[in-house]
Amino acid sequence: MVKLLREGALALLTLDRPEALNALSFAVIRDIGAAIDEAAGWDIRALILTGTGEKAFCAGADIKELVGRSLMDERAGSELGQRVFAKLDSFKVPSIAAINGYAFGGGLELAMACTFRVASSKARVGLPEIKLGLIPGYGGTQRLPRLVGEARAAEIVLTGRTIDAEEALAIGLVTRLADGDVVEAAKAFAAEFTGYGLPALALARAAVRRALDVPLDEGLRIEADLSTLAYRTEDAAEGLTAFIEKRKPQFRDK
Ligand code: CAA
Repeated sequence: MVKLLREGALALLTLDRPEALNALSFAVIRDIGAAIDEAAGWDIRALILTGTGEKAFCAGADIKELVGRSLMDERAGSELGQRVFAKLDSFKVPSIAAINGYAFGGGLELAMACTFRVASSKARVGLPEIKLGLIPGYGGTQRLPRLVGEARAAEIVLTGRTIDAEEALAIGLVTRLADGDVVEAAKAFAAEFTGYGLPALALARAAVRRALDVPLDEGLRIEADLSTLAYRTEDAAEGLTAFIEKRKPQFRDK
């Protein structure tokens, strides 16, 4: 139900359940967790997630599986989704959701746990849980405000409306739109940063990642700490010297 491939410096994770629009059964969520663990052992620089088929990235939690669940099961289900998506959020290299079609509910929550989102022009996204008498349970109420601000997030969650690709880009919910094939666009995007040194990439991501979680003075302290670590790397010495010598730096991930 989940396919994991390695292509050079990239790992490609594909939700592969097209008959249910790649809906997230609990088995699929566990498979995503296992695939992330496997990819963590690989020497890669980016992880791309997408869905099989023309129609959907992921239509959300498997509604058929949710029917008749006990409250205890529901809490465990929400915590499982949150745990697996948190693993993605803190994955060792940046992740890109290549949104090839619908990304609703848990599907959009999965995409929001990625570092970046690239969407095809026909992508449609939203958090329609309210229409089912539910609210998002895999991190959506917390990650959406961090991306688009509180009032707009509340509007999206409370109305459950569908957002097209253009609007998603305009409000910062997706990072880029793809002209053609969305996975190819995600690969091209990854190529814009995978050539840099791993320490600087990891430190930059960690610094930006904390920005909305802590007060400004604390965030600035974190930035000073992490930028000091970056200065100490061999890659920084190489990058600065290469600039002076007017040549391309040879980063060695140290
Ligand atoms: N769970 C289980 N099955 C799903 C599904 C889902 N979330 N979404 C679609 N499917 C299944 C359909 O039941 C259908 O299967 P059958 O052919 O066996 O009936 C198949 O996928 C194709 O779906 P549709 O016929 O509905 O396709 P469509 O093109 O007419 O509509 C859609 C596409 C608008 C995405 C529609 O399928 C839809 O609204 N899906 C539900 C979206 C949704 O509400 N997601 C939120 C789920 S709750 C959640 O995610 C909670 C959370 O935060 C953790």
